[in-house]
Amino acid sequence: RNLLENAPTDWDRRAIARVMIEEMRHGWQMCALLVDHFGYSGKVEAQKMLERRAFENKRLHGAFNVEVDNWMDFFTYTDFVDRDEKFQLQMLKYSAFAPLGRSMSYMLREEAFHMGTGNDGLRRIVEAGVIPAWLIQKYLNKWISSSYDLFGTDHSSSAHWAYVWGIKGRYDEPKNDKAVDLDDLNDYNRNLYRDEVAGLIERFNNSLKAGEPKLYAPDIKFNRFIGRWANQKFHAKTGEPVDDRAYEEHLKQYMPTAADKKLLLDILDTEKKWIAEKTGARDPLASIGEVRKSAINL
Ligand SMILES: [Fe+2]
Ligand SMILES: [Fe+2]
Repeated sequence: RNLLENAPTDWDRRAIARVMIEEMRHGWQMCALLVDHFGYSGKVEAQKMLERRAFENKRLHGAFNVEVDNWMDFFTYTDFVDRDEKFQLQMLKYSAFAPLGRSMSYMLREEAFHMGTGNDGLRRIVEAGVIPAWLIQKYLNKWISSSYDLFGTDHSSSAHWAYVWGIKGRYDEPKNDKAVDLDDLNDYNRNLYRDEVAGLIERFNNSLKAGEPKLYAPDIKFNRFIGRWANQKFHAKTGEPVDDRAYEEHLKQYMPTAADKKLLLDILDTEKKWIAEKTGARDPLASIGEVRKSAINL
């Protein structure tokens, strides 16, 4: 509600409304699969999913319980956490369980809108040049490092068996003719994700004001809680080890602090032009449900 009321433009307000409508639909779509194909236990699982309440922080994935309460978080989240979703859906699109595989394209089309909203929102922020690049970087570090975690543990036996049983493929499965490393699937896909993210951030740098530090994707080892780099201390930019005593200070420099958030909210509150206008785009609620072939990137 707070985000709806504080939308920077009417276009953004309608875009976030569409994102919420479509994410609800994704939940229903997964419940329909459970109910249609998994008998009584599927119904029980679907009921649990429909009764779980986001505002009570009952989401299953830790990263999904982190608050998104301002527009900087919203754009960064939709650009990078929804992009993780794109990766997961794409891998399930190759599923040998046909009803699951077939249902992915519809969600992928919608995710394309979510990611586009986030990516273009961040580009508009960079272009406006009001929020300093160092502050933007901290939000990139926060959400991209937690997206790395969403790919799951390393040496995962569930990823191994999901691949062997044909439930899930590698993200680039149709064009990848190399032998699969069953022991390291999650990290393989995680690295493809990082490459895509790094390319997108490089594009933001073209819109950066002169003299501002270049933006980058945080190192894959930074701020991880899942996988082989979990709970260790690495530099956000270089990936070099940071020693115990210096790390607390390092986190203050590379992750949003309470003071940074206050500064951000002040800027969003008082600066009228913290984000460039959205130009040439159609009303998100008028184009909802339209087919977007570009989202199906087989
Ligand atoms: Fe979704
Ligand atoms: Fe989404």
